[in-house]
Amino acid sequence: MNNSIDSFYKQVEDTVRLGKAPMVIESGQGAYLTIKGKKQLNFCSSHYLGLAVDNRLKLAVKKAVEKYGIGTGYRTLAGTHILHVELENALARFKNAEGAIVLSGGYLANMAAIQTIIDKEDIVISDELNHASIIDAVRLSQVKNKFIYKHRDAKSLEEQLKQASIIAKRPKSNEEFPLILIVTDGVFSMDGDLAPLPDIVKLAKKYCALTMVDDAHGEGVMGKGGRGVVDHFGLHGQIDIEVGTLSKAFSVIGGFIIGKKALIDFYKQKARQFLFSSALTIPDTAALLEGVKILESSDELVKKLWDNTKYIKTAFKKLGFDIGESVTPITPVMLGDENLAVSFSAKLFEERVFATPIKFPMVAKGKARIRVIPSASHSKDDLDFGIKAFEKVAKELNVLSIGS
Ligand SMILES: Cc1ncc(COP(=O)(O)O)c(C=O)c1O
Repeated sequence: MNNSIDSFYKQVEDTVRLGKAPMVIESGQGAYLTIKGKKQLNFCSSHYLGLAVDNRLKLAVKKAVEKYGIGTGYRTLAGTHILHVELENALARFKNAEGAIVLSGGYLANMAAIQTIIDKEDIVISDELNHASIIDAVRLSQVKNKFIYKHRDAKSLEEQLKQASIIAKRPKSNEEFPLILIVTDGVFSMDGDLAPLPDIVKLAKKYCALTMVDDAHGEGVMGKGGRGVVDHFGLHGQIDIEVGTLSKAFSVIGGFIIGKKALIDFYKQKARQFLFSSALTIPDTAALLEGVKILESSDELVKKLWDNTKYIKTAFKKLGFDIGESVTPITPVMLGDENLAVSFSAKLFEERVFATPIKFPMVAKGKARIRVIPSASHSKDDLDFGIKAFEKVAKELNVLSIGS
């Protein structure tokens, strides 16, 4: 009998016992979900534009599957399909970029974006609230010189850049000088606030640093017709590496990197996440291609998303909820206490509103919240239904002195 294996399984079981299994969705991801056989308002998913159940995507998938079947394979062997190429071209066109590479997840796209170009002796400077996939990507690169700046704080970033530029003067063992990479989320997923990209671009120029933005929550949401946070700030061509996900506003799966053509071609040759992992399937790719075409041809869904965002933020503020500093559809209803957030969410569920609690480690201890995300698939009646449920639960739990 091996004691270390017994103790390993005991730890595994103890941890699993404390965890909570996610709710199982029994319907499509539209304005409402079916959970445990009951209809619930979908108030927290990242399907910003309602494309997860859009008939145009369904039809595109049906046609593509009929024509091409399902599977693809390794992009570098026999897996690069004409639809992959069309999707990359469409994304580059939509984002006004020289080139795009599609990977099978946003998480993987961050890994590829950083690991491929950063080595141990380079330098990475990262916002303290960056997404876990950026943190993991930096770890994977094994870079030794990691600097963290205060959240969205250009002053703090400059302090780190000053230190970094001293290190960058010493050549690496291969005689090249170290790269400095500044990396940030575009829209911060838990708070809905934006990276100060104009300041970051200015500082990057001053200190000769590369810039990278992970715009998972900005794609399809921010900028003209959903072209993202770089477009929002009018900074086309000034951010070296832009990463996006295809699982949120685009409602399918996958991630992408856009940038200069040479850099994208370099990723296609060198990124391990591209070389050693299979490509998106035919249905995924066909649905995504249709999604990009829809956004290219009309901003109707993006406008509806923003109308709904304004409506819900105004209503929550009027009721007296603390909804943080968000300037995007992400609407955190701040509750602080973790148990309160859990009870709030459970009571909302009884009212037929599905909005999960967000707590440590997703946010710092004492900063628990319910993260509400309206979508283009909600009608005003749907939003009113959700807002009324929040008001009722807040009264029951004494969260606000509503109506007093
Ligand atoms: C900021 C950010 N980056 C990356 C990801 C990972 O994207 P994906 O789900 O496509 O792997 C997410 C997903 O939650 C995210 O919020």
